Amino acid sequence: MKKVTKAVFPVAGMGTRFLPATKANPKEMLPIVDKPLIQYAVEEAIAAGITELVFITGRTKRSITDHFDKAYELETELEKNGKLERLEIVRNIIPEGVTCIYIRQAEPLGLGHAVLCAKPVVGDQPFVVILPDDLIDDGKRGVTKQLVEKYQQQRKSVIAVENVPKEDTYKYGIVETFLSDDDSLFKINSIVEKPSPEDAPSTLGVVGRYILSPNVFSCLEETTRGAGNEIQLTDAISMLLSKESVYAYEFEGTRYDCGSKVGYMQASVQYALKDAEIKEEFKSYLDSLN
Ligand code: G1P
Repeated sequence: MKKVTKAVFPVAGMGTRFLPATKANPKEMLPIVDKPLIQYAVEEAIAAGITELVFITGRTKRSITDHFDKAYELETELEKNGKLERLEIVRNIIPEGVTCIYIRQAEPLGLGHAVLCAKPVVGDQPFVVILPDDLIDDGKRGVTKQLVEKYQQQRKSVIAVENVPKEDTYKYGIVETFLSDDDSLFKINSIVEKPSPEDAPSTLGVVGRYILSPNVFSCLEETTRGAGNEIQLTDAISMLLSKESVYAYEFEGTRYDCGSKVGYMQASVQYALKDAEIKEEFKSYLDSLN
């Protein structure tokens, strides 16, 4: 069986909802407590056994490349000042044996186009796609690991889904599934990008974690512009469905939509309440607000 070793991180988006913070800084570098969103995504991939991290970047995204690179001056400084704990944090962002690959998406043509940019590196292997905006806390192994486990059972594409409020279907890819004996894994019958609540076939929304068969690339090559005038990954998955099965998996864990300000603030509060260094002080502060 082919192992899943590659993860694609589409990080070329503009992040206009967080302007002015994202004028010169990528939205993926926004921190939740003290760690940028992209690092949570990378750690989740590594915990699932991924060894090749493929970033689809754009202009103004240099700090992502820098973040995963060696920082000689900083490391020397921390070492000199005996700040060894911090030195370890900086040094161990990417463990040995894990490689970072960067591909520039020259034009913002959408998520589907971004994923297609990874084709020369991914080749003929199943691969993970992680959208760092969706921060998912499952308290233990990580949602990508959950997906890899499901992929290993089915050997077919698996997409993470969750029930979303009916009025929000226009924000998500929405799947219609067949009945299943398993209460968390369903074969997908159809998938549609951002339908209005009236047109949505269900309320099962796609969140930003996918394990995809490499056959999705030939579908992406044929995909024309869809919702928002962009090349949509959802449309390519819909095409893939006519060739092979794709599964929807209702994952364990809590998702924070860090592409929205409210979701970002909720994640910040929840992660602060878990942070060993600040949780007590932060909780007292929250209590004092009531
Ligand atoms: C993308 C996908 C959408 C998916 C969503 C999850 O949309 O196109 O199908 O439901 O991510 O976050 P975006 O949020 O980039 O508009």
